Amino acid sequence: MATYDLVVIGTGPGGYVCAVRAAQLGMKVAVVEKNATLGGTCLNVGCMPSKALLHASEMFEEAGHSFAKMGVSVSTPKLDLPAMMDFKQQGIDGNVKGVEFLMKKNKIDVLKGSGKILGTGKVEVSADGKSQVVETKNIVIATGSDIARLKGIEIDEKRIVSSTGALSLEKVPGRLLVIGAGVIGLELGSVWRRLGSEVMVVEFLDRILPGMDGEIAKQFQRILEKQGFAFKLGSKLTGVEANGKALLAKIEPAAGGAAETIEADVVLVCIGRVPFTDGLGLKEAGVALDERGRVQIDAHFATNVKGVYAIGDVVAGPMLAHKAEDEGVAVAEILAGQAGHVNYDVIPGVVYTTPEVSSVGKTEEELKQAGQAYTVGKFPFTANGRSKVNQTTDGFVKILADAKTDRVLGVHIIGREAGEMIHEAVVLMEFGGSAEDLARSCHAHPTRSEAIKEAALAVGKRAIHM
Ligand code: FAD
Ligand code: NAI
Repeated sequence: MATYDLVVIGTGPGGYVCAVRAAQLGMKVAVVEKNATLGGTCLNVGCMPSKALLHASEMFEEAGHSFAKMGVSVSTPKLDLPAMMDFKQQGIDGNVKGVEFLMKKNKIDVLKGSGKILGTGKVEVSADGKSQVVETKNIVIATGSDIARLKGIEIDEKRIVSSTGALSLEKVPGRLLVIGAGVIGLELGSVWRRLGSEVMVVEFLDRILPGMDGEIAKQFQRILEKQGFAFKLGSKLTGVEANGKALLAKIEPAAGGAAETIEADVVLVCIGRVPFTDGLGLKEAGVALDERGRVQIDAHFATNVKGVYAIGDVVAGPMLAHKAEDEGVAVAEILAGQAGHVNYDVIPGVVYTTPEVSSVGKTEEELKQAGQAYTVGKFPFTANGRSKVNQTTDGFVKILADAKTDRVLGVHIIGREAGEMIHEAVVLMEFGGSAEDLARSCHAHPTRSEAIKEAALAVGKRAIHM
């Protein structure tokens, strides 16, 4: 029987990063993966394929709409969807191979099959009707999440799709109805709108992107509407019927009331994700779940069963790849006797649309609710030189700082490249920095990042270019 220091179940960004860090720290490690390829949701049907399609569709739109005004004359671009899907697949394959390489490089055994916990120190791995049991000092559950479903609505991944089907449609739907104005709805809605779909988004709440700063979300909605998105807020889907080639979606006000019927060619259901624990044997092994079906852990990622830990989407917290990765590193370090730790106050979030939306720390709504006194500094990209010359001036930077100490509590950006720009705020906040620290840090000219410096200056009411 094979024996290990650590067996990690699941090879998404949580699992494979945890395995690599543990191997670096001298542990004998194996990963268990039930899918044909390594990399989990993120590499196979999540972050990476969606970003490939966002990039390709953005280039398509730019070529059609922005090149001419810069004096670049091209004939109207034509869409070759199969080639775009190949581009996406090449990106997936390259990244999956990268994870395989990392497993080899770090001498991590890859056990293909479904993992089941038999109790402290024992994992059964089953594939193709055969099974083996491996012994291990510690187990990390990193089995991720699955799509949330709506009662009575069957996802066939052809016409009624989840994000997985929406990443592989064979033709551009004439009318795409998106259920849920969260991250997936706005990212994949953007992809298909750019490629030619009419997109309507139905959202249960009275706003888009719940959890993001309200002012940013409002401006984002306006920009998306200008791009052609239609929104139906405060509404819910209650049923879908097929009527020949069209789908008839029943939409009701969230609070109840008369239903209306909306015709669509494809319905994308993206109303969140749920922890995935099927087949892990948690009940038999006595591993406790919380009220939302997530594996319950303490501050050190330990479950109630000795030697069993959990990280990533399957535990509480934002369902983000980088959060899963950081937890993977932290738990490996804890198992090696070090002080592994994740600072949940400073986890960035990015929506990879055009413009992008990024955020770290507290929103204005959260500060108000906590009764925290704060100052706000804002700076629009219309006043940023680089954005002006590139004619990409949508959006602004917003910095929230403690009214007494000037410590930065939250940074929110809407604008091109906002997802790259947020990281100076992340580092600043990790070091407990102030708006004054940011304002006095020299920023290269001309960059869009100067808008962050100006917003920091605006906290002290002394922005230069506004
Ligand atoms: P996962 O990546 O879900 O991996 C879990 C793995 O465990 C899977 O490979 C699964 O097959 C395996 N597994 C499960 N049970 C077993 C078992 N019993 N035995 C063996 N193997 C098992 N996040 C971002 O930060 N940025 C983004 O841009 C982003 N884009 C996204 C786009 C989409 C369309 C989706 C759906 C998600 C996106 N996410 C993004 C979220 C991100 O994918 C997840 O937060 C991340 O993958 C979670 O990592 P994980 O390691 O916890 O789990
Ligand atoms: P989400 O939680 O971001 O958004 C779901 C939306 O659906 C919410 O606005 C919610 O109010 C709404 N909703 C819920 N029930 C509804 C109903 N019955 N009718 C209408 N609307 C309803 O979830 P989403 O977009 O499915 O993404 C899942 C997870 O994947 C997210 O938690 C996110 O963290 C992760 N992800 C991250 C990305 C990124 O970091 N760029 C990209 C894509 C996904």
